[in-house]
Amino acid sequence: TNGKATNIVWHKSSVGKVHWQEVLQQRGCVIWITGLSGSGKSNLACALCQALYSRGKLAYILDGDNVWHGLNRDLSFEAEDRAENIRRIGEVAKLFADAGIICIASVISPYRKDRDACRSLLPEGDFIEVFMNVPLQICEARDPKGLYKLARAGKINGVYPPWLLYLKIGFTGIDDPYEPPLNCELELPQKGNNCASPCEIAEIVISYLEEKGYLQ
Ligand code: PPS
Repeated sequence: TNGKATNIVWHKSSVGKVHWQEVLQQRGCVIWITGLSGSGKSNLACALCQALYSRGKLAYILDGDNVWHGLNRDLSFEAEDRAENIRRIGEVAKLFADAGIICIASVISPYRKDRDACRSLLPEGDFIEVFMNVPLQICEARDPKGLYKLARAGKINGVYPPWLLYLKIGFTGIDDPYEPPLNCELELPQKGNNCASPCEIAEIVISYLEEKGYLQ
């Protein structure tokens, strides 16, 4: 490991991904949905999970917003902590995929190198990066949580406890960067069709999974 612990030995189980693939009739993978806040990541994740469930497939959503409440409650939106947020979600997603589950990660994951590090944890092909390519203006007009308004007013720090105020916390797309993927597996919504419903977009992902043999 390159962590802090020493004397750690990997213990291999006799039941692994291939066995679960047989039992579950699906191949575990990670569908990594990246994009700005308000781009429709969570709605796509839900629609996709629903579509997989109706086909009798086992899927699980790791939603950034939800993970902040538990696993990552010790982190902030400062750059270093975002990287750690993504690293942890990537590691958990990898475990899910190893258990044969179709793991849907729905996280802004604004920095390319953090997403690429998650990709490198999985076997070739098993990390499917889905870019919700919705322009900032549209996300900002939707502003479902009123966070863009807060960010424009310079009040995004206000949602954090006072002891975190010394950190430089920007809002993605406004005063913190979003680095779009260079080589993602899917870019959605297709053909600049920002009106496509989450169910329609989910079907595109399902077709991809079928084509690549993840659903048997
Ligand atoms: S990240 O950047 O990938 O680590 O973030 P993520 O785990 O996806 O969590 C993003 C959600 O947290 C809310 N939020 C913020 N987003 C971006 N920047 C700042 N400063 C921030 N503060 C709070 C926001 O609601 C994000 O949810 P979504 O669903 O993307 O809108």
